[in-house]
Amino acid sequence: MRRVIFADNLEALAALPDESVALVYIDPPFNTGRTQTRTTLRTVRDAQHGDRTGFQGKRYRSIRLGSTSYRDTFDDYLGFLEPRLSEARRVLAKDGAFFLHLDYREVHYCKVLLDQLFGRASFMNEIIWAYDYGARSKSRWSAKHDNILWYAKDPKHYTFNFAEMDRIPYMAPGLVGAEKAARGKTPTDVWWHTIVSPGGREKTGYATQKPLGVIERIVKVHTNPGDLVLDFFAGSGTTGEAAARLGRNFILIDNNPAAIRTMARRLTPHGAIFENCEGVLERVNPEALPLGGGGGTAVGSGGRRWTGDRRRASTARGRKVRAPQGQGDR
Ligand SMILES: C[S@@+](CC[C@H](N)C(=O)[O-])C[C@H]1O[C@@H](n2cnc3c(N)ncnc32)[C@H](O)[C@@H]1O
Repeated sequence: MRRVIFADNLEALAALPDESVALVYIDPPFNTGRTQTRTTLRTVRDAQHGDRTGFQGKRYRSIRLGSTSYRDTFDDYLGFLEPRLSEARRVLAKDGAFFLHLDYREVHYCKVLLDQLFGRASFMNEIIWAYDYGARSKSRWSAKHDNILWYAKDPKHYTFNFAEMDRIPYMAPGLVGAEKAARGKTPTDVWWHTIVSPGGREKTGYATQKPLGVIERIVKVHTNPGDLVLDFFAGSGTTGEAAARLGRNFILIDNNPAAIRTMARRLTPHGAIFENCEGVLERVNPEALPLGGGGGTAVGSGGRRWTGDRRRASTARGRKVRAPQGQGDR
């Protein structure tokens, strides 16, 4: 079961059964007070009107293909999150894991809230995802990390596949011997990982896209093949791609049409079914975007379940669709 649902997440969550999900990972807007926008550009050779010089001194012109954006402002951030976090706990399996991805502006408020919802004993780790990208501040230490809180529903009984951890190089391999150095060491709660590379294949063009490497590490260690992973602030669908690549199922929810369109490009090859998305997908590329194998049960407004339009996809699943260009980080 690989589902993408276009809906407000609180409404969609109400339709999910209790204790049905092995892992919830969410990366809500951080309350930055900004509109998050990512502009998509294409560069073409243009000797006459080029606005930049590129490879081998040739002139290139940038064409703006479009942009995606969403509002990242809430008057009452915790008031917005609290009912959604409660729902996350309700749908989590007894041995399930909950991951909340934030930054330094909100993490301390959210930790107190999660301690209340899950119980302090359920707090397992605060993971620091450290990266190094973009401008540096001249008036304070440049903030180059995100915070990821892990809570176990039951701190005495949870999935933690230690052997599935990827290994990282020792900082001083000469001190540990050849065998250990070759095997590498297990990561700590500080994860160094690049952001989604501006020139890389992973890039979808969706603002705030997170790296697959970070989410795959979470999925591998905290779930087993065949488990169900839920991300109800799904954005470009990184969690879905990580889950699918590792043989897990997923439910992804987002209320932004641009996110749904990005996920359609990204996750259709992974067998995703798109629910409540008909108008949204048709507007993008009706030729190339199947409506998820014929509708199915979808989530409509008010949290009711209703049966979606059962139109068949007009083209084969898995057809190649070009992703827009851009780079996401906060
Ligand atoms: C920070 S982005 C997630 C990025 C994602 N982790 C990725 O790798 O692409 C947050 C997402 O939450 C969505 N969102 C915000 N409020 C929502 C709501 N009430 N219901 C569903 N989605 C919502 C936004 O549209 C946005 O796509």
